[in-house]
Amino acid sequence: MSKNIVVTYGSFDLFHIGHLRLLARAKQYGDTLIVFVSSDEFTQQKGKQCLLPYEQRAEMISGCRYVDKVFTEHCWEQKIENIETLNVSTFVMGDDWQGKFDFLKTYCDVVYLPRTSSISSTFVKQSMRIIANIN
Ligand code: CTP
Repeated sequence: MSKNIVVTYGSFDLFHIGHLRLLARAKQYGDTLIVFVSSDEFTQQKGKQCLLPYEQRAEMISGCRYVDKVFTEHCWEQKIENIETLNVSTFVMGDDWQGKFDFLKTYCDVVYLPRTSSISSTFVKQSMRIIANIN
């Protein structure tokens, strides 16, 4: 029997509870969870600045028990090829991306999961700046 493959994408800077819950729920949609972690260059293109380099972000995602395989996200355009090459059955993203990847429904199921409230990499970075200024 063929395995159901789930895929998700993101920067995953400063791994936090929102990331963990997203990955845990994504895994429930199949047997194998593949995560494409954004390269440093692509993250910059998206207008973000990661505190941690790609190698560390990818290593932490790789160490997460729900994740079976980690690859690199280099650009917006690679998703269709990834889905076809890896025979992906479900594409998962948090609902901050609601509707943005509906064009992938031709290739696989597309699921948007509710984000965990009150946490983001941006929030962690802002909090670190505030604490650094206080001390
Ligand atoms: N995510 C989530 N809940 C959160 C934060 C992120 O479910 N509180 C999900 C996103 O929706 C996405 C994945 O985790 O599917 C990776 O998101 P990423 O953009 O790397 O994390 P953020 O914390 O949102 O980062 P930033 O603040 O830089 O936008």
